[in-house]
Amino acid sequence: MAEKLTIRDVDVGGKRVFVRVDFNVPIDEGTGEITDVSRIQAVLPTIEYLIGQGARIILASHLGRPQGKVEESMRLAVVSRRLSQILDKHVAATRDCTGAEVEEAVATLKNGDVLLLENLRFYPGEEKNDPTFAESLARLADIYVDDAFGTAHRSHASIVGVAKLLPAVAGLLLEKELRNLGGLLKNPAHPFAALLGGAKVSDKVAMVENIMGKVDCLLIGGGMAATFLQVLKYEVGLSLVEKDLLDTAARLIAQAKEKNIRLLLPVDVVVADEIKAGTKVDVVSVEDIPPDMRIADIGPQTIKIFEEELLRCKTIFWNGPMGVYEIPRFAEGTQAIVRLLAGSQAKTIIGGGSTAEAVAGMGLSEKMTFVSTGGGASLRFLSGETLPGVAVLLDKA
Ligand code: 3PG
Repeated sequence: MAEKLTIRDVDVGGKRVFVRVDFNVPIDEGTGEITDVSRIQAVLPTIEYLIGQGARIILASHLGRPQGKVEESMRLAVVSRRLSQILDKHVAATRDCTGAEVEEAVATLKNGDVLLLENLRFYPGEEKNDPTFAESLARLADIYVDDAFGTAHRSHASIVGVAKLLPAVAGLLLEKELRNLGGLLKNPAHPFAALLGGAKVSDKVAMVENIMGKVDCLLIGGGMAATFLQVLKYEVGLSLVEKDLLDTAARLIAQAKEKNIRLLLPVDVVVADEIKAGTKVDVVSVEDIPPDMRIADIGPQTIKIFEEELLRCKTIFWNGPMGVYEIPRFAEGTQAIVRLLAGSQAKTIIGGGSTAEAVAGMGLSEKMTFVSTGGGASLRFLSGETLPGVAVLLDKA
């Protein structure tokens, strides 16, 4: 795909700039406070650049999945408060994202001011890419900037609809995401390892097929390993096996063999009778998984083997935790990998979503070459798909 124009290529001084960001941040249900600000921090370069250029900045985002209606717990005021603190500058928040009140707030913006609109998904028109809703957003601005990589795989009004109505360019985060993830597909330093985990194979099949010709080794942990282990005739007890994907998993195993890709699966696992704290837990070889237990993490032998393999690599892409890392007893595999990658000399690219959360939770994001802010979006991009939110932006040429 052609390179895209960015905010550096257009004159934004004194202009009203609509910036689609992804402030879909995790919020603690009890306190209502944001538990990980990585996605806010990731767009600071764009916001700060626009402030420096004297743009009038209108930030717009979704939060959660409110299904087209107002959900008090999904208001973005909590983000505007945190963003004000981080920027050390007042960021006003509107209680709506279109309409007279919002138009007035935009009209009073001075050069360098920042405004955050209310959750776009309070309107059903957002997810339906409704043209009237897109027009009501486009009316607010002169220029459109997409810096919401995490949502670039969605054909929503604020992603594609508005972008078609205004001069549309990429923000600095979007540019960085495309450069880092694109580099994995174009010219990775070898040996190149993809380390995959998480619950499901189904989420990752298209991506694995697309990177098969590029990686030297494929390491599979997490819940998804169970489907592969079953193909190899291991009994996996109560672990989730995606029965409709057994053939696909078998095909991927065969392809890896054909292409001389080292495919590593767990040799031992932590098993539990239930996935919760304080339950019966054991560490067993994959040959001895009891029928009444399920895989909850990779075991110590597997950690060692994975570590040895990863230490030889010059490029490592990681997507998906090695176990149910939210529960401390099942977090050891994931934590060991985070520590290893943090200390590694290799180029380490972390897929977004729960993998990024695990890395941020240990305070080690800075030690990685790049942590993507996109979960689904990074998988779709690495599957070779053209993301609608990127396709719609103006080409450099
Ligand atoms: C994400 O968290 O992956 C993005 O913000 C997209 O959210 P969505 O899956 O609800 O569209």
